[in-house]
Amino acid sequence: MDKVLELKKVSVNFGGLAALREVDLDVRRGEILSIIGPNGAGKTTLFNLLTGIYRPTSGTITYKNTVINKLKPYRRVELGLARTFQNTRLLKNMTVLENVLVVHAECNKEGIFAAVFNSRAHLRRKREAIVQECVEKLAMVGLEHKLDVLAGSLPYGEQRLLEIARALATGCEVLLLDEPAAGMNAVEKAELVKKIKRLSKQFSIDMILIEHDMGMVMEISDRIVVLNYGMKIAEGSPRQIQNDPNVINAYLGGEAEEL
Ligand SMILES: Nc1ncnc2c1ncn2[C@@H]1O[C@H](COP(=O)(O)OP(=O)(O)OP(=O)(O)O)[C@@H](O)[C@H]1O
Ligand SMILES: [Mg+2]
Repeated sequence: MDKVLELKKVSVNFGGLAALREVDLDVRRGEILSIIGPNGAGKTTLFNLLTGIYRPTSGTITYKNTVINKLKPYRRVELGLARTFQNTRLLKNMTVLENVLVVHAECNKEGIFAAVFNSRAHLRRKREAIVQECVEKLAMVGLEHKLDVLAGSLPYGEQRLLEIARALATGCEVLLLDEPAAGMNAVEKAELVKKIKRLSKQFSIDMILIEHDMGMVMEISDRIVVLNYGMKIAEGSPRQIQNDPNVINAYLGGEAEEL
């Protein structure tokens, strides 16, 4: 299977604290990969590393056959890596559509947002095309009927979907989702699982998911990587991970029999 992203012996140190220790990891074309592990295991650090917020202390990160260790965050977004955050970062006083427009790749490049006030026909046409594209991204997560609603007044589950639509609007090929189901109720979670699977299979977006909800992880993942104290302690299919004694130990101190 094609590797989209590859980490080789990657470590991240914060002073004396090793947040990631010699992690080997690959992300394969077309898969939903979940990263799990107890609090403080290094999951968010891994995302910050992939998006360029942190640089590895040692090791290499390869994306589309290029080492990207030193690439700036915005360059990574241009190359197709996008993320959502553990806590949503929506512009709460702007509408759903505006939230997507402001992050659209072309929109930023050409100042098209300002072109609302510009009467020149070609700019207007271009803006209409971008709006259309943003509506399509919103449709991919099922929010196309809420274009004019203020982001802050959406139910929480839909705010998280809007975050995903914003990541899609950057033109991403690999999407990093940090606890997308946090704060959702059971119905919203079930919907989210369907939508993430659809994004993966129908729109060919590669997914890396951090999630604490084990039911969701087991249902959605093609493959799971387990971190503990910054180390990769297991990797495999949901079934393999559920039965892995190292994983059971890490989560439950070895007392329980199943995850
Ligand atoms: N910028 C930083 N400076 C210093 N230490 C940090 C920094 N970011 C993370 N850490 C530490 O690195 C370790 C890993 O943190 P990280 O946020 O990656 O864990 P996590 O697996 O995402 O946990 P959670 O499930 O609670 O979100 C923790 O001990 C954390 O305190
Ligand atoms: Mg985290």
